[in-house]
Amino acid sequence: MKIWLDGGLQDIESARVSVFDHGLTVGDGIFETVKAVDGRPFALTRHLDRMTTSARGLGLPDPDLDEVRRACAAVLDANPMPLGRLRITYTGGHGPLGSDRGEQGPTLVVALGGTTRRPDSTAVVTVPWTRNERGALTGLKTTSYAENVVALARAREHGASEALFANTVGQLCEGTGSNVFVVLDGEIHTPPLASGCLAGITRALAVEWTGAKETDLPLDVLERAEEIFLTSTLRDVQAVHRVDEREVTAAPGPVTAKAMRIFDERSGADLDP
Ligand SMILES: Cc1ncc(COP(=O)(O)O)c(C=O)c1O
Repeated sequence: MKIWLDGGLQDIESARVSVFDHGLTVGDGIFETVKAVDGRPFALTRHLDRMTTSARGLGLPDPDLDEVRRACAAVLDANPMPLGRLRITYTGGHGPLGSDRGEQGPTLVVALGGTTRRPDSTAVVTVPWTRNERGALTGLKTTSYAENVVALARAREHGASEALFANTVGQLCEGTGSNVFVVLDGEIHTPPLASGCLAGITRALAVEWTGAKETDLPLDVLERAEEIFLTSTLRDVQAVHRVDEREVTAAPGPVTAKAMRIFDERSGADLDP
């Protein structure tokens, strides 16, 4: 297995990042997860745009996107697999032990793992912790993800694959690694970016391709929505059949099933929409 580090491919067994890397010591970094089908990345341009946005939000130097593209291609070529998750990580690099950043420049790692297609439907739970829609990191895809680790563990304890957060004012926000959509009176709605959710790439494509509306929604909309679905890079569009104690009848319901179909068709027809 080969990964990209320090400007070239390296064996995963011998590749080394400093133990003082600011990504490790304080979570000072950003990342992207990109789906790769038969060695070809999906929506890479959108992922690279978001990577630049996240880097700027953290005050990291703009990533060299030509290098990131070369790195992705090299890692994909070196590790052929039918369905992969490309993981691009870009951190503050070697730094002091506190929150000040060092001066040696950022670390870029591109790695690849195999994955399998997700089931068409899944269970989710809501969690009592909030997303902060006004934080310094809001909307950035940073490596400070431990809140998501805790919330996802809670979901697993309840036999679910995702945990959904409200924001600090009780509005529906997002999952640990996904965006959420609900169907109300036959129409699709998803929380606006102002709710504090990540600008998911699958979310944006689903909004464009299905005409879903961006609407402020209270968390308890999950108790009455006709249908609920998640979007993310590795879930695509995935129906929700259970929220907490509530079984959602017929998941995927008709609106979700149509959204799944449209997503499959459009994403199959254009690898970099
Ligand atoms: C917190 C969070 N929200 C939403 C998403 C979904 O975004 P995308 O569709 O770009 O994968 C992710 C990414 O996986 C995420 O980490």
